[in-house]
Amino acid sequence: MLSIARTVLRPTLTRAFVAPGAAASLHTLPDLPYAYNALEPHISEQIMKLHHTKHHQTYVNGLNAAEETYAKSTSTKEKIALQSALKFNGGGHINHSLFWKNLSPVNEDGGKLAEGPLKQALERDFGSVEDFKKKFNAATAAIQGSGWGWLGYNSATKKLEITTTANQDPLISHSPIIGVDIWEHAFYLQYHNVKVDYLAAIWNVINFKEAEQRLVEATK
Ligand SMILES: [Fe+2]
Repeated sequence: MLSIARTVLRPTLTRAFVAPGAAASLHTLPDLPYAYNALEPHISEQIMKLHHTKHHQTYVNGLNAAEETYAKSTSTKEKIALQSALKFNGGGHINHSLFWKNLSPVNEDGGKLAEGPLKQALERDFGSVEDFKKKFNAATAAIQGSGWGWLGYNSATKKLEITTTANQDPLISHSPIIGVDIWEHAFYLQYHNVKVDYLAAIWNVINFKEAEQRLVEATK
């Protein structure tokens, strides 16, 4: 059991002993669809660079290590011992891959919500776009510790709903439309402890076009 924990924590060491054929299934860090400084002044270049190259990369490494160890596990007990590493690192990889795409520079799609199915659904389910943002920010700011704020589509109620997840838990109960990272690494270097300023600023760089595509996909 101890050896399993050690290999999860040391992905590079684990990787060195993986058969060459297994490398094809490794997860990789996706490129950002814009430059590190493209979201300034709302999210600084320093935050984006560290967040992408250090934090997201660490989740990718941890997920690869956990999956490789899982594949080689010979007992149910060993597999159970890997569940939290799979959830944490797998969720971190899924959430951040989604997060980069749901942001966009102001001189591109950032902050622009055009007339269309997303705007109509937000007005239907929250009264107005401004009311939606207020409710989203209040729910996300209230997360204790680290987590994510979500706008999700509930296929049972056929409505957009605001929800949150703790740690790196991915959104399972809804189809994710917009996700906002409220871990301190996402804002602290620029906004310090003032979460509400980060949450107010991020709407300037939210890619509503991407969010609308997700909604269209979820409602098919
Ligand atoms: Fe993050």
